[in-house]
Amino acid sequence: MNSKEWIAHFRQNATQYRVDWSLEPNITEKQIRSIIYSLQAWQLGETSDGSNLLRASTKYAHSINDPDYIEAVKLFIREEQKHGNNLGLYIDAIGENRIRHDWGDSLFRKIRYFNTSMELWTLTVIVVESTAQIFYQSLKDASNCTLLKQICTDILIDEAYHITFQMERMSTIVEGKTDFGKRWRKWFYKLFFFSTTLVVWFAHKKLFKAGGNSFKNYWKKMSLKYGKTLGKLGVASSQLPVASGVSQVTVRRYETLSGEHT
Ligand SMILES: [Fe+2]
Ligand SMILES: [Fe+2]
Repeated sequence: MNSKEWIAHFRQNATQYRVDWSLEPNITEKQIRSIIYSLQAWQLGETSDGSNLLRASTKYAHSINDPDYIEAVKLFIREEQKHGNNLGLYIDAIGENRIRHDWGDSLFRKIRYFNTSMELWTLTVIVVESTAQIFYQSLKDASNCTLLKQICTDILIDEAYHITFQMERMSTIVEGKTDFGKRWRKWFYKLFFFSTTLVVWFAHKKLFKAGGNSFKNYWKKMSLKYGKTLGKLGVASSQLPVASGVSQVTVRRYETLSGEHT
């Protein structure tokens, strides 16, 4: 999809209300205790104003002469803020407090501040969004609360498109690199993907377990996600002719991802 099509997608998706806010939370104290730390941390993470990403995207959009990309990124950020807002409303509804600091969020914010490279931004978002899909599925499965389940389903639907949005950008960025550039990136991306996977597990294992995921399950799901996203880029650069190869793989991946919410 081009930037105009993404703008249309995000605008249309913003008119979809999938959460019934008249519902009362229905969650036990024990369940709250197993999810609250992660819920608070992700709520904070989703609440960023996006100014650093917007700065990097604006610079990038001008360099490739695609001013519409700026608007698409703005709408993408707005969707992330909706997630933060909805999680915040849920935290309020169960009588817990929203937090202002979390070590993972502070670290991520510092990295974001210094990061003006579109490539690093895109890579980071792809990795974080991949863990997010398992995270929100676990949050959804950790209780019988219909309101929380609806909030998670809504986020999962949005996030599947976010990965497609970012993977398209990544394909375009990688397409412009030399063979050597593609080769070292393949390893660097993989290392970055799996080390982040590990950090997220240790920070949020209580929630992942509450949602029925063992470390083995989680790792397997993340490996599959890697294969469907960044792993495909490596294949494209080494086994297929560059230009057509990347787009062929891209198209196939979109078909797979568009129906995938877990
Ligand atoms: Fe999100
Ligand atoms: Fe997202």
